[in-house]
Amino acid sequence: MTALDLAGPVAVVGTGTMGQGIAQVALVAGHPVRLYDAVPGRAQAAADAIAARLDRLVEKDRLTGAERDAARARLRPAESLADLADSGLVVEAVLERLDVKQQLLRELEDVVDDDCLLATNTSSLSVTAIGGALRNPGRFVGLHFFNPAPLLPLVEVVSGFATDVTSATRAYEMARAWGKTPVACADTPGFIVNRIARPFYAEAFAVYEAQAADPATIDAVLRESGGFRMGAFELTDLIGQDVNESVTRSVWEAFFQDVRFTPSLAQRRLVESGRHGRKSGHGWYDYGAEGERPEPHTAEKVQPPAYVVVEGDLGPAAELVALIREAGIQVREDEEDHGTRLVLPSGGQLALADGQTAVEFRDVVYFDLALDYRRATRIALSHSQDTQTQTLAEATGLFQALGKDVSVIGDVPGLIVARTVARIVDLAHDAVAKGVATEEDIDTAMRLGVNYPLGPFEWSRRLGRSWAYDVLDDLHMRDPSGRYAPSLALYRHAYASEKREGTP
Ligand SMILES: NC(=O)c1ccc[n+]([C@@H]2O[C@H](COP(=O)([O-])OP(=O)(O)OC[C@H]3O[C@@H](n4cnc5c(N)ncnc54)[C@H](O)[C@@H]3O)[C@@H](O)[C@H]2O)c1
Repeated sequence: MTALDLAGPVAVVGTGTMGQGIAQVALVAGHPVRLYDAVPGRAQAAADAIAARLDRLVEKDRLTGAERDAARARLRPAESLADLADSGLVVEAVLERLDVKQQLLRELEDVVDDDCLLATNTSSLSVTAIGGALRNPGRFVGLHFFNPAPLLPLVEVVSGFATDVTSATRAYEMARAWGKTPVACADTPGFIVNRIARPFYAEAFAVYEAQAADPATIDAVLRESGGFRMGAFELTDLIGQDVNESVTRSVWEAFFQDVRFTPSLAQRRLVESGRHGRKSGHGWYDYGAEGERPEPHTAEKVQPPAYVVVEGDLGPAAELVALIREAGIQVREDEEDHGTRLVLPSGGQLALADGQTAVEFRDVVYFDLALDYRRATRIALSHSQDTQTQTLAEATGLFQALGKDVSVIGDVPGLIVARTVARIVDLAHDAVAKGVATEEDIDTAMRLGVNYPLGPFEWSRRLGRSWAYDVLDDLHMRDPSGRYAPSLALYRHAYASEKREGTP
């Protein structure tokens, strides 16, 4: 089968959730599709389910009746693996177990032609390890679709250690011809998306475990300030706590228990207690008939300050100066550049989250990073016992005057959005340095795979060259476990252009 041979037969082995989705994609793209499942009757049931979905596409005018009929005629369940002999591509989507996948591929290799491309949809096993079972692992590649495969555009095309470049290219071109957006990546734990997305969950859980805020508040801040489509708690309830935790655990184990990927104790308790999320009626939230979603913590309305003094450059929060002026609050600019903060009439300071804690300063309120301060509808603030009541009230009133809800959380360094984004940016730089994927493909993968409002590199460019490094450096000082230690890649990125004097 050549790269774009849309007439070539495709086989899908394992016809559960993913197998059905992948089969539908190949079928609609024009291939004859063969379905095989180890459990008798399942391939036929899958063919019926796919046919019903094609009917719905016709109802929605996304397929004509004639196209549906032709597609149905191209779809066939197979009785045995031997029926897949003429396939140009076989995608396996069976049980996520190395021994099961290896055994299947060994059997397949004896059935198909030498130029048949073999692919796995594994999400957490090593493509290299699965391919190790083959006589010719060069023709074996990862084709990691996301659920639901017919709807989600991203496909990670994973090259194992032994995968031939030509096989990876064929798989990539095939995914593109199927209307998907492929990204190329190396065979490392979690590939791109499941690796770089870990801090999105982990930092939200960490802020909760630190008793700094409840799930509803953290979710609201991630959505309304961070610009994420969903918060980490509601999203993991949707994914399933058991499923999300098992991805985290597999990435952590595969990285030899690297502290940057340590799973969450709070999530472990949920999983152990059977609170798996929406599907079990309980997760972080309750979903029963009476399960009301708790409200995020939102501060009472207070008076805004009459003026603020801007000292230095507010960096990623520079837009605030214009917003404050537009809200009718006087902005005084301090000629002398003392730093990067606002000074309130109380004499206290208002500073952008930087990885330090409020308790280290006499009278300070920290505010969280926002994706876009103009469009954000909520801002998180933190303070310490040494912060004057007046300073917190003026900071609260200031953001309320800009039309934002304010959530006051505990004094955690990097608040909620800043620590999350800094860690995602770090893992993205680290992944490029380790040859996992290109910057462009990582940005694409994170936008399409997990719906991030910006790719990590686009975000990093907006925030400034050393922003993420500086935040993590501060966080690392306050939690020296290694969890926040910025990678060498991020350090290089932050300081590459600053040549130091002297000899090393
Ligand atoms: N569900 C997801 O969100 C998702 C997303 C991406 C990747 N994946 C991966 O896709 C694969 C399948 O996941 P799923 O959720 O579709 O599972 P599933 O349980 O819905 O389906 C698996 C199917 O494989 C069949 N099967 C098991 N062993 C077999 C064998 N030896 N030969 C033939 N058929 C066999 C089972 O009978 C079942 O029908 C796994 O590797 C999983 O990690 C899943």
